[in-house]
Amino acid sequence: MRNLEEQREYEAIQRAEEKVRALSVSLGRKPTACVVTFGCQMNARDSEKLAGILEEAGYEITDSEEADFLIYNTCTVRENADKRLFGRLGAVGSAKKKSPWRKLAVCGCMMQEEIHTEKIRKSYPFVDLIFGTHNLYTFPSLLDAVLSPENEGTLLIDVWDKADAMAERLPSRRKYAFKSGVNIMFGCDNFCSYCIVPYVRGRERSRRPEEILEEVKRLADDGVKEVMLLGQNVNSYGIKVPEEERSCFVDFPTLLARVAETPGIGRVRFMTSHPRDLSDELIEVIREHGNIARHIHLPLQSGSDRILKRMNRGYDRERYLFVTEKIRERIPDAALTTDIIIGFPGEEPSDVDQTIDVVERVRFQNAFTFLYSRRTGTPAAGFPDQVAHDTAQQGFDRLLSVVQRIAGEETAAHVGEVQEALAEGVNEDHPGLLTGRLSNNLLVHFPGEAAEVGQFVRVSLDEAHGFYYIGKRV
Ligand code: 5AD
Ligand code: SF4
Repeated sequence: MRNLEEQREYEAIQRAEEKVRALSVSLGRKPTACVVTFGCQMNARDSEKLAGILEEAGYEITDSEEADFLIYNTCTVRENADKRLFGRLGAVGSAKKKSPWRKLAVCGCMMQEEIHTEKIRKSYPFVDLIFGTHNLYTFPSLLDAVLSPENEGTLLIDVWDKADAMAERLPSRRKYAFKSGVNIMFGCDNFCSYCIVPYVRGRERSRRPEEILEEVKRLADDGVKEVMLLGQNVNSYGIKVPEEERSCFVDFPTLLARVAETPGIGRVRFMTSHPRDLSDELIEVIREHGNIARHIHLPLQSGSDRILKRMNRGYDRERYLFVTEKIRERIPDAALTTDIIIGFPGEEPSDVDQTIDVVERVRFQNAFTFLYSRRTGTPAAGFPDQVAHDTAQQGFDRLLSVVQRIAGEETAAHVGEVQEALAEGVNEDHPGLLTGRLSNNLLVHFPGEAAEVGQFVRVSLDEAHGFYYIGKRV
């Protein structure tokens, strides 16, 4: 059964379809559409939904930014993503003059900030549509409006600052036939002092377990082997829900177990865990289910208690070390990865030493290291003791060399083992090789045929090369 919102959007897709058909007649070919994603897994999943709607409306999906309908799905978590967008927009503007039927939309986290929508309005007037993260599911209506002749040449802006409704059953076009992300919750309530996400993605909302399990079952029926459960903080799944709905929800470990027990699902991943809330139950559920990936991404952000406090992270280094030791003890084959920020306001070389010390102790399989970037509107942007770029860069370089050494050692430690890999694709540089992903998230290249893509294969890990292996089927 569709709810009212879903019904309205399905009708909008039909109207858009008629307009796309007319365009197709005048162009003498099927119009093309392209969705370019910046940023995280959450955005990648949103892009699949947008592409699904465009496809349903009659567009041919391509990777080419010369498409007749182009969407930039933006990210604003770190500064360089902003810069990349505006560079790209400039180039599209001049191309659009020559082919006026082309449409350009910009959506995603950046568009939830007025400073960016204003900049587009003033400096990039050729953009046709701006929408945010909260009303993504109304894209069919927006698409229909943009394609309407009466809106020709006007910029439609539809950005909401509140998010309540969730339309669940709209089309989506998976980038991979055999794996898919599944949103289990939206938004974030943690307000880490450096982070823009709570402001641009809104309050934390959990999807109902039955909706999630139904989606996972549908994916499995459709041949999907691996799902990744997505949320900014999956460990708080189902906690902040209205009192009267409490009995409809389960906690994250229970949900994860049910997803893993769905027939046909060969592997389950999840992103992201918060070190403050990671429970013993979660560790046990992973331990008991061989098809839950041996990989936990657990953002550390800093190893210094002073900095963690100012970041409003809600844990200290001792808690972080305690949790990771417990994971090591209970699930010895689990790989740990992390995110670390260097150059947070007030950070001194001795704080970086503390962070490096945690990296040495935990021995991450990989760590994503970021230079702090000041996001307007976040508390940390107002802190008086911002760190000079050169100082931050020195700390960053120091950390990176340790991270890379340990990652290389951790990869090498598994050489000689036989593990199961999900073949994800043909290697672009060496067409005789397939690229497979191991349970612990590392990649292995091995001789194989394109027909094996999407299958689980057992592979020997013969040689380690930095972050990947060369192997063969056994
Ligand atoms: N500056 C630098 N890195 C940031 N991240 C989030 N906000 C910022 C910021 N303002 C990093 C965090 C987070 C990852 C997705 O991006 O490490 O875990
Ligand atoms: Fe941002 Fe913190 Fe929420 Fe992660 S947990 S999205 S870092 S506010």
